[in-house]
Amino acid sequence: MIYKKLQRYYALIFIYTPTVLIIYKKQYWILGCLAAKSLKQHLAINGMGTNMKKLNVRDFKLKKKKGEKIATISLYDFPTAQIAENAGMDLILVGDSLGMTVLGYNTTIPVTIEQCLHHCGAVVRGAPNTFIVGDMPFCSYQKSIESAITNAARFLQEGMVDAVKIEGGKTMAETITAMVRCGIPVCAHIGLLPQRVYAEGGYKIVGRTDEEAEQLMVDAMAVRDAGAFAIVLEGVTIDAAKRITETIDIPTIGIASGIHCDGQIQVLHDILGLSNYCPRHAKKYVDLKKIINDTMSEYINEIKESKFPAPETSFK
Ligand code: KIV
Repeated sequence: MIYKKLQRYYALIFIYTPTVLIIYKKQYWILGCLAAKSLKQHLAINGMGTNMKKLNVRDFKLKKKKGEKIATISLYDFPTAQIAENAGMDLILVGDSLGMTVLGYNTTIPVTIEQCLHHCGAVVRGAPNTFIVGDMPFCSYQKSIESAITNAARFLQEGMVDAVKIEGGKTMAETITAMVRCGIPVCAHIGLLPQRVYAEGGYKIVGRTDEEAEQLMVDAMAVRDAGAFAIVLEGVTIDAAKRITETIDIPTIGIASGIHCDGQIQVLHDILGLSNYCPRHAKKYVDLKKIINDTMSEYINEIKESKFPAPETSFK
């Protein structure tokens, strides 16, 4: 009885307080709104939070259903993860391309689980409200289903990511089924498979012949039936990618696979102009290498000419 009365009073206070404030204390209300707005801006600028709700596997399927394109990026560290989250990225992949972009290898083959986990941690700390996928490196999931599950679990438990990505189509379907059964969300990756660069004798666009296009469809259906929540299509011809995207009900995320995919992924270093080589499928949105180079030269010159540090960057 008393509890019910209290509930009613709380409800009345809850409903009427803002109204009273609006009517009688309009100025406080306006001031409050302005303060909240500037706090929100401050938090967003400093990467401490955005309005964004963290997406989950169901959201990506929903986006496909609604025809909403999915924006994703492959990156590897805290500051760029913060920037991506603040910019509104739907999904971040901590790709094993980190081997080439930040570790200086020629391929993704030498990348280890430890290196991937190290970078996953940094990205998760930078983008806590973004869905993050950890890329499982070469031979960390192919040897046996049991070791694949053990290693995938490390990505979720130690790397703190939301899902893993593995390369391979039909041949990986059983592994995907087993991972999904354990509660590990899996993004599949078919088409050009960088971890098979030695086995294939290089990187090659796939889907130009009828057999290749047919095999791609078989692979896409197999990983979808196995429970993958999305598929990266890499280096797939525009027509084959379109057919797959129109046929399956999980999102396709394309790289070098044309405009018809449900989403796109690029390597951050390629679009920022930081890579040594920018592939044809990538658009260099800015030449950061030049900007950083010019900045470093200026810094060096100012030191040599005793212009830096200036009085304002020194202490009395
Ligand atoms: O390693 C990576 O960054 C990737 C994407 C390019 C799909 O696999």
